[in-house]
Amino acid sequence: MVNLTINGKDLKVDVPDDTPLLWVIREHLQMSGTKFGCGAGLCGACTVHIDGEATRTCITAVSDAAGTKITTIEGLDENGIHPLQKAWIAEQVPQCGYCQSGQIMTAAAFLDENKNPSDEDIVEAMTGNICRCMSYVRIKKAVRRAAD
Ligand code: FES
Repeated sequence: MVNLTINGKDLKVDVPDDTPLLWVIREHLQMSGTKFGCGAGLCGACTVHIDGEATRTCITAVSDAAGTKITTIEGLDENGIHPLQKAWIAEQVPQCGYCQSGQIMTAAAFLDENKNPSDEDIVEAMTGNICRCMSYVRIKKAVRRAAD
């Protein structure tokens, strides 16, 4: 049994310690906003925050997340819609949309650390999140909009 705190809720999950956190979030807790992309820590689709850090859940064992504060896209903004989500809508970022919750979670952790980023900072921060639809220009604009 692993104790987790996700989006402010304390939960217990009965899974082997080495179960990827991604499977627990998606399959056991039925929160489908966090996506499976590569399963190897390479694409960023599975990104959540663990104690505020953007973290790839496909390569994070659930036991390593015990006792931490986990935030998924579903809990990113307690009051409803996060400024980044508003910016994503305003810039019409998604095409297929699959990678976008991971993109937003990476951007949110980045903006928490850097309130006044340059365009180069934004590109560097987002460079590890892959988008097969090539929405990179709109992602940059949306992060810029949310930061300004
Ligand atoms: Fe986790 Fe690609 S699914 S990084």
